[in-house]
Amino acid sequence: MYFKNGNIWLDKFALLLSLAAIGIAAVQIAQAAPDPQVGKAISGQCAACHGSDGISIAATIPNLAGQHYEYLLQQLKAFKDGMRKNPIMENFALPLSKKEMQDLSAYFASIPIHVGHPKIAKPKALHPPKHFRAGNPKNPNHG
Ligand code: HEC
Repeated sequence: MYFKNGNIWLDKFALLLSLAAIGIAAVQIAQAAPDPQVGKAISGQCAACHGSDGISIAATIPNLAGQHYEYLLQQLKAFKDGMRKNPIMENFALPLSKKEMQDLSAYFASIPIHVGHPKIAKPKALHPPKHFRAGNPKNPNHG
């Protein structure tokens, strides 16, 4: 069928080879997809600063929870290739493979966050007290 030479064993061998090739390609595709579960499993090294839930432990360290996947990945690559300079993060990004960066980014991006509008004081409260506008009748120096 493949070699048209009548050698059935060669035909079967060729068929096996193509099936194996398809199998390997399928595994490669499966491995290429960013996996938040794998990212979570290797995120322990980041938790000391960024927290295990992606909410950082200090005001000088950025939160990662719910951040965009593309942004996280971009920053990790930038730390690794020196485009973004930070002595701490360079050390952590340097040993990461492309796949590990994808998995870590997928994990932190997948952490749900909730946002709401801040409570802002009503404009009325910002108006001056009444006696500033009306003057203080008990004090002749103030009109
Ligand atoms: C020792 C503390 C520390 C550890 C551990 C650490 N980071 Fe960071 N990370 C920082 C600091 C500090 C910054 C801010 C860097 C800057 O100012 O440019 C940062 C920045 C980042 C940013 C950029 C965020 C943004 O909003 O731009 C990403 C992404 C990141 N870290 C991912 C990781 C990952 C993934 C790990 C684990 C492999 C990790 N970090 C481990 C301290 C740490």
